[in-house]
Amino acid sequence: MAGHLFLSSSSTIDYENDNEDDWIMKPTPWESFLYQPPSWMEPLDWQKVFHPILSQLETQNSEPGTFPIHVDLGAGDGGFVTARAQSHPDIRFIAVERLLGRARKIAKKACRNQLDNVRALRIEASYVVEFLIPPHSIQAITILFPDPWPKRRHQDRRLIQSHFLVQCARCLRPDGWIAIKTDDAAYFEQIVEMLAACQGLEHWKDADPEQLIPELTDFERDFLKAGRSIHFLTARPISARRDASGGKWIEQSSSFSEEEKKQLRQFQSQQKSKGVSMAPGVNE
Ligand SMILES: C[S@@+](CC[C@H](N)C(=O)[O-])C[C@H]1O[C@@H](n2cnc3c(N)ncnc32)[C@H](O)[C@@H]1O
Repeated sequence: MAGHLFLSSSSTIDYENDNEDDWIMKPTPWESFLYQPPSWMEPLDWQKVFHPILSQLETQNSEPGTFPIHVDLGAGDGGFVTARAQSHPDIRFIAVERLLGRARKIAKKACRNQLDNVRALRIEASYVVEFLIPPHSIQAITILFPDPWPKRRHQDRRLIQSHFLVQCARCLRPDGWIAIKTDDAAYFEQIVEMLAACQGLEHWKDADPEQLIPELTDFERDFLKAGRSIHFLTARPISARRDASGGKWIEQSSSFSEEEKKQLRQFQSQQKSKGVSMAPGVNE
C-alpha cells in the first residue's frame, strides 16, 4: 500500500514507497496536491478541494464551515506558502500559479512536507478571483512580488488592476485582508491609487507586515540581498460591508448568475484569442 494517497476521509496518508511496481497503477502522491476541479466553469467547492483532511481538521479545531482559507496568487515555487502552511496548520492554503513547472514544485513541496492544508492550483490568478472563488469565502489573499511589467506598453499585463481589486473584495470574508508586496516603486504607486478608488476595499494602514506575514518569499530574499526596498500594503473590505452583513459571512452561491456566465464566456474568449488555455491539466 506504500506510495498511495488514500481518498477516504477516515484514512491516513502514506508517503513512503519502496516498491517501484506500486507506482504503475497508482496516482503519484504529489498530484493529489495539484488540485484540478471537476469543472473549471463552476465555483470551487472548498469541501472537495481539501478532502480528505477537512473533516478531521474541523472536528479538531473549529466549527464546520468556518475554517480560514488563504490564497497566495502567483505563488512561484511555493517557498512562502509552504512555510506558512507549516506554521499555521489550522489554516488552509491555495497556491495559485500559472506556470505548470512551478505549480508542480509547490505540490511536490507540500507532499514532501506532508502539508495536507495546501493545494496548488495551476491557473491564471485573475480567473481564480473572478470566477472560481465563491463570494466572501476567503480570509486572506497574498500577492507577493507580482510580475511588474515595467515597460509602459506592457502595463495592461499587470495582475493588479482596478477590476481585479473589486473581484478580490468580492472573494474576501468581512474579516478578511489582502497583502501586497513589491520591489517596483512605480507599480506600488499605481496600486495605492487604484486602491484609493476601489469601493470594495479600504487601505489598512496600521497593519504590520512582520506580524501579518513574517515569512519571506523566495524573491523577497533575493531582493533583500540585493539591497532593494520592499513596498508593503494591506487592505480590508470596507467597514460598510462588514456592518451591512452584521459581521456575518454572506452565503456562498453554488452557481453563476446569467450575468456572471456572460462575463465568464467573454473572459474565456478573450483569453483564447491571446492563446491562453484556461483549463490546463497536470500534464499539459
Ligand atoms: C516574481 S514571481 C514571485 C513568486 C513568489 N510570490 C515569490 O515572491 O517568491 C511571480 C510569480 O507569479 C506568477 N504569475 C505571474 N502572473 C500570474 C498570473 N496572472 N496568474 C498566476 N500566476 C502568475 C509567475 O509565473 C511567477 O511564478
